[in-house]
Amino acid sequence: MSNRQLLVSKIENGVVIDHIPAGKAFLVLKLLKLPNDAETLIAQNVESRSLGKKDLIKVEGTYLTSSEIDIIAFVAPKSTLNVIQDWEVKEKRVIKLPEEIKGVLKCPNLLCPTNKEFASLQTDFRVEAGEKIEETKLHCNFCGSITWYGSILESIKSEQFRIEGRGLVSEAKIEEVFLEALIKGGALRFPPSPDEPFILKSGRPSPYFINLGALTDGESLARVKWAFASYIALLMERGDLPDFDYVFGPSYKGISLATLTCEGLNELYGMDKRYMYDRKEAKEYGDLSTDRVLVGASYFKPGQRILVVDDTITTGITKVETIEKLRLLGDHEIVGLVIAVDRLERLGDKDNIEDMSAVEYLEKELHLNVFSIQNIKTIYNLIKDSLSDEMKKLWTEYYNKYGISKLE
Ligand code: CTP
Ligand code: ZN
Repeated sequence: MSNRQLLVSKIENGVVIDHIPAGKAFLVLKLLKLPNDAETLIAQNVESRSLGKKDLIKVEGTYLTSSEIDIIAFVAPKSTLNVIQDWEVKEKRVIKLPEEIKGVLKCPNLLCPTNKEFASLQTDFRVEAGEKIEETKLHCNFCGSITWYGSILESIKSEQFRIEGRGLVSEAKIEEVFLEALIKGGALRFPPSPDEPFILKSGRPSPYFINLGALTDGESLARVKWAFASYIALLMERGDLPDFDYVFGPSYKGISLATLTCEGLNELYGMDKRYMYDRKEAKEYGDLSTDRVLVGASYFKPGQRILVVDDTITTGITKVETIEKLRLLGDHEIVGLVIAVDRLERLGDKDNIEDMSAVEYLEKELHLNVFSIQNIKTIYNLIKDSLSDEMKKLWTEYYNKYGISKLE
């Protein structure tokens, strides 16, 4: 047995990246973003038949995605990736520069359509390989910008790249962006003066009004998509929300939310879910078997899981109806309900005020897990400094009377 083999023992299941140019192991390791408890072996500057000296990394219990392998190619070209299963080398391949690289690296041109903050497109570069790795260039397929190797390496070293399924956004950031979208798009409105509150369907004189249906422009929709998808991915990552197969949006407003959510989860987090919605009036012609009441139900398989999305909850009645309709699917599970804004308000009307809020009602009576991207308390705290004393009074009095908690 050679000294090299003695230096690092064999692994049972995992990956071995071999023939890494000497001195590059730590950079490659950094790219892998392994959890702290990953079982890792690193060998540096060991003898190699072909390279003189080489580095080597072994990671037990992991695998690499194609995006990760592509990124490694820019740092350690010609290294070998060995996939180990049951102590055996199951797959061996030389890590080569890809011909194109999508959605991982950023385009240096700030005006490129891939750099728009919310409606951005996935980046897409043609890779021009040179004789040496240092001669590699990227050509942006959208704007034609060229990225030279120095910049590529720089963005890799400073971790300015994105691997699918990573790059979760913080809750505070999602709340902030979403609130801005609601206000800018006219979905969250405030009365012109404290004497003219919005009279809700319940008869209550509200200091604000929320209607996601007002968001009909492309830019607002892009933000809604981003916010719903990012929030759901975050809930899943934290273990608060189990995985699911379908996104269901109650008609009418829920339909666009469900499609946007589905698309956003795919574009931003690589998830592939289907969406479904209900018809308000059952279809009486054509294919009556599956899509009569629930559009998209023809793909449903017994036991599949559903996430419901909607804008807000006023009385909870619509949600109860939704749940009734989903019974048509037979064996299914509703993993949760994600709403845009929680009004944190008690059920009832102007004079009748019940103990429970609509959300509490759904959670206690229907055992539904409800998550809201925004809630009115956070919104109030973000805007209160810009309110006049009279307007503040309208808010606090409203919530003293109708809220499940008071505003300060
Ligand atoms: N390896 C490992 N655990 C295993 C099997 C292999 O860690 N259960 C490692 C070996 O130590 C080696 C790499 O995976 O670094 C590739 O294994 P193998 O193909 O057996 O070695 P070589 O013939 O040296 O590979 P190459 O031809 O790529 O140099
Ligand atoms: Zn570009």
